[in-house]
Amino acid sequence: MYILGLESSCDETSAAVVEMEGGRRRILTNIIASQIDIHALYGGVVPEIAGRAHIEAITRITRRALDSAGLPLSDIGLVAVTAHPGLIGALLVGVNFAKSLAFANHIPLVGVDHIRGHLAAALLAHEDLTPPYLGLVLSGGHTAFYTADDYADLCEIGGTRDDAVGEAFDKIARVLGMPYPGGTALDKLAYTGDPNAFALPSPALGGDTLDFSFSGLKTATLNLIHHEEQLGRPLPAADIAAAFTRTVADGIAKKLALTLEMTGRKTVVIAGGAAANSHIRAAAERVCRAAGATLYLPPLSLCGDNAAMIAAAGYYAYLSGERADTALNASPV
Ligand code: KG4
Ligand code: ZN
Repeated sequence: MYILGLESSCDETSAAVVEMEGGRRRILTNIIASQIDIHALYGGVVPEIAGRAHIEAITRITRRALDSAGLPLSDIGLVAVTAHPGLIGALLVGVNFAKSLAFANHIPLVGVDHIRGHLAAALLAHEDLTPPYLGLVLSGGHTAFYTADDYADLCEIGGTRDDAVGEAFDKIARVLGMPYPGGTALDKLAYTGDPNAFALPSPALGGDTLDFSFSGLKTATLNLIHHEEQLGRPLPAADIAAAFTRTVADGIAKKLALTLEMTGRKTVVIAGGAAANSHIRAAAERVCRAAGATLYLPPLSLCGDNAAMIAAAGYYAYLSGERADTALNASPV
């Protein structure tokens, strides 16, 4: 079956054609129109501008996804669209476009949870990956552990009580003078500093909880930066980047080890924009190796927001019997 995926939850407009059948998972096209250059002018995503930019891009991007796949719309067996969570004005563009396209052409439609989409990116990249698995989503808006007992049967078992990990990376990068979104630049800068230069509070909450808190780490790092600035010395940006990144990676590794111990799972999927972080990837590899678990990571090209992951998650939702009708609506949560 060919699935047309559509994604517009934040600052990327994306349309993809994916083929899913039995064990086969194949991306034919995955077109992404990024708005990052526009939002970088403001240091973060401006929701009103995001909504307008999605409207301008979505028809063209969808046409390109179909044309580059060499398929007419009549070959599409399912339309899958991100319905939640995200920026409401941005989500509404994709949802209304998908509803018009699907219902006018008598194609089944499913609304997809963006977070489940991120985990499905790993399924697209690894045909041998099957449930049950332990999932960890690390994105700009979410940080949470899931148990996946089947392709469409996910249960959240822990996560951040405040900020998301990507949000913390972006904030610290911004204060260190890097353009939005600063996650990738901070990742690189961290290699040039001393990871033990500063002691910062761990985002892994104490005790048996599977929860994180990134706000304390964020505030402590900001206070450190302001303190260094007040001393009038050149800012040790590389050391701060290295210490902050080490603290994040160690905190995630600690909770991942605990989650593996508590759930007994031997298959792990880590996905989402911040799963592109090389320090976190290396720390997770170490934890999984020590626990005798197999780690599946999407390639960097599928970590960020894209519609192929939405198509894949939509396919499994469809197989489990989900169908959207004309009442499908977008939701920010
Ligand atoms: O999943 P995503 O594309 O969008 C959301 O659903 O939120 O995640 C975007 C986030 C941004 O905060 C970005 O800075 C972060 O992922 N990110 C990274 C890296 N690459 C992207 N964070 C840390 N290290 C990276 N290499
Ligand atoms: Zn995302």
